Amino acid sequence: MIIINSIEELYYETKKAKGSIGFIPTMGALHEGHLSLIRQARKESELVVVSIFVNPTQFLEGEDLDSYPKKEKADRKICELAGVDILFMPTVEMMYGKDELRISAPAIRGFILEGTSRAGHFDGMLQIVMKLLNLIAYHQPKKFRAYFGKKDAQQLALITQMVKDYFINVEIVPCNIVRDGDGLALSSRNIYLSKEQRVHALSLSRSLKKATKMVIKKEFESSKIKEKMEKELTYIEVEYIALVNRQFVPIKHIELGNTIILVAGKVGKTRLIDNIWI
Ligand code: PAF
Repeated sequence: MIIINSIEELYYETKKAKGSIGFIPTMGALHEGHLSLIRQARKESELVVVSIFVNPTQFLEGEDLDSYPKKEKADRKICELAGVDILFMPTVEMMYGKDELRISAPAIRGFILEGTSRAGHFDGMLQIVMKLLNLIAYHQPKKFRAYFGKKDAQQLALITQMVKDYFINVEIVPCNIVRDGDGLALSSRNIYLSKEQRVHALSLSRSLKKATKMVIKKEFESSKIKEKMEKELTYIEVEYIALVNRQFVPIKHIELGNTIILVAGKVGKTRLIDNIWI
């Protein structure tokens, strides 16, 4: 595995690739969820590139930018063992200039749910993903693939839209959510949870399980499903429970094969999100 800290070196190494490139952008503190993306990329690509960059522009004032978990040594080892070819670790100075052109999230889909609770977050996220995709695509005449987890479902929907709207030559591959044995969706932020908070956090996935059971029993009304989920979410400071279609438009009735049920809330100071694709 080569560790790259400069854009020139990244260009040089990706230019040599003869086959397909699989790219996994991350903010580090890698866990089994990231590993599942890397494994899928490894199966499907000749060259696997992982980036680790804690992107300042997607954190809002008062969020955990400074305390965001950093595990550089462990991350390197994980990537090496998972068969990553290139680990790209840029600095803020390399990725951002002064008085930059900005990208804005779309006016409707970008400003509901996570876009309401974290206004501005998606602008910064799209900006860095656009930059990273362009860097990897620079010498890639063929289509390349980039892998994203379904846990950040709105992020995934907006990246997919950006790639389409801006004609970026990359295939976005959505990857399934990875959960711990107790059902908690894996997240780098789970390490903030105390033992007790972790138990409380389990009600997020439990509420989604309840929702799924209702759908299996043919309850398709969004309001009834939300009501049931809300009851399950004790000890969670719920930010939203939402049912949207895959285009991220809120729906009143479940559309089988085209629905995502989402929940976001705080356990103590830790903000967690989870969802299920129906
Ligand atoms: O999901 C993440 O870890 C980040 O939002 C991403 C896609 C790496 C952009 O910084």
